[in-house]
This record gives sequence, C-alpha cells and structure tokens, in this order.
Amino acid sequence: MQIPESPNGRAPLLEARGLSKRYGSTQALDSLDLAIEPGEVYCLLGPNGAGKTTTINLFLGFAAPTAGRALIAGLDVSTHDRETKERIAYIPEQVMLYRNLSGLENLEYFTALGGKGSPGRERLAEILVEAGLERDAVDRRVSGYSKGMRQKIGIAISIAKEADALLLDEPTSGLDPKASNEFSGLIERLRKRDVAVLMATHDLFRAKETGTRVGIMRYGRLVTEMSTDEIGHADLERIYLEHMHD
Ligand SMILES: Nc1ncnc2c1ncn2[C@@H]1O[C@H](COP(=O)(O)OP(=O)(O)OP(=O)(O)O)[C@@H](O)[C@H]1O
Ligand SMILES: [Mg+2]
Repeated sequence: MQIPESPNGRAPLLEARGLSKRYGSTQALDSLDLAIEPGEVYCLLGPNGAGKTTTINLFLGFAAPTAGRALIAGLDVSTHDRETKERIAYIPEQVMLYRNLSGLENLEYFTALGGKGSPGRERLAEILVEAGLERDAVDRRVSGYSKGMRQKIGIAISIAKEADALLLDEPTSGLDPKASNEFSGLIERLRKRDVAVLMATHDLFRAKETGTRVGIMRYGRLVTEMSTDEIGHADLERIYLEHMHD
C-alpha cells in the first residue's frame, strides 16, 4: 500500500494508523490515529489505564498490535524491527543503568549497543554535559545519582544515538520542580533539532509548557487533541477535567 506523504514530502516520523491493542477482554488501545512530525512534541494525557504506555510499547515493538499499524518514518514496526529501533530512543520513568558504572561508562555501553559506532569518549563526555549533567558527575558511579541525573543520561543516550524520534513514559514523575524544568529545557533543545517526541505524562503543566500538541486519552481512545499555543494552562486543566466526566 502506498503511504500518503506529509506536507514536507516525507512520511511522519511517528504514525499510528487504526492502532489497536486488546489484552483479553480489555481494549487497551482502540483505533488510534496519530502523526508526529519532526520538531513536534506530542504529549499524551489521560487517567491510569487510558492506554498511554500501551501506545508507546506498540511504537517500541514491545507489544504487537491486534489491529492497525505503528509506523516509524513510514516503516512498520512489526516488519522492520531493527530499522525502526535504530531511529528511536526511549526514556522510561526509571532509566535503567548499571549502578556500578559511571555516567560516562553507561553512555559508552549503551551507545555501543546502538551499533552505529561510538563518537569517542571525549565527545560522549561533552554530550553528558550538553544533557545537563554536571562535569564532575560524569565519572561518578551512577549508584549515587538522583532521579533527575539518571534522566539526563537517558537524554544523553538519545543524543549520542542521533535518534530521530524520542518516546518518553512519564519522564518527569517524581522529579523536583527544578529538575523537571531542566528536563523541559532539554526536550526543547531536541525539538529544535527536529526530533519528533511522544511523551506520556500526568503533568498538565509540563505538557502545556513542553508540548506543541496534547492529546487526551480515555478507555483506549484519543478523545480530544489540541495545539498548546491555542490554550492556557488553566484551559488545559479545565478541558482535561471536562473529558473525565461520564
Ligand atoms: N501486559 C498487559 N496485560 C494485560 N493488560 C494490560 C497489559 N498492559 C496494559 N494492560 C491494560 O491495558 C490498559 C491500558 O494500560 P496502559 O498501561 O496503557 O495505561 P496508561 O495510560 O499507561 O496508565 P498509567 O497512567 O497508569 O500509566 C489497562 O487497562 C491495563 O490494565
Ligand atoms: Mg503508563
């Protein structure tokens, strides 16, 4: 089937077409249609169990759809596992790192796993600083890092990988306001580099602050979608709550 092209002549970086996932009797995701272009930060909001993590897992190929397709740069995740994984980076709520290795050693390890070759130790150390890690933390063991510092390693991994798309699942939950603010700044920098970002979050403030678009999900369905420059912080909260009524 011919893939329709977006206005710039390329397939969107992240695209869901009728994407659905059923677990037993639970319709975790129901016919999601979504397209995210380079330089867009799409925030998925919705209550517990709405289908946000399921959406991300389908893009990552962690789960197979029961209907529809998840596409990365026009390639179906189900049939192009390696090619699609090469183009994306993933930051879960808890970034999994080797506690006994330093931040730099972790970055070296995960960059080597990416298979594209390493830009070299010095460049990797610079990337850690670009990702907001203090220079004197670069060689310290990760076991002493705060949650915010671990998230920065996650961002550094995606910068080193030169990922075109970034998937984040509740990245700011449990971060203090300053760490959360720094995190927003990093996402903004990735956006300016034309990365496409899909972020699941419960943080309405950050969604308005960092997102270019927000979508509200409920019972596996995308119930509304809006551009963040059309609305204020208070509007987003009101709209969210309105959609939570039965
Ligand atoms: N592996 C699984 N097996 C069975 N049911 C699952 C599985 N993963 C998710 N579900 C169900 O699918 C629905 C959507 O879950 P999902 O984790 O996508 O929600 P979420 O929006 O990420 O919620 P939260 O805000 O709590 O993280 C829920 O009803 C959940 O119980
Ligand atoms: Mg979730």
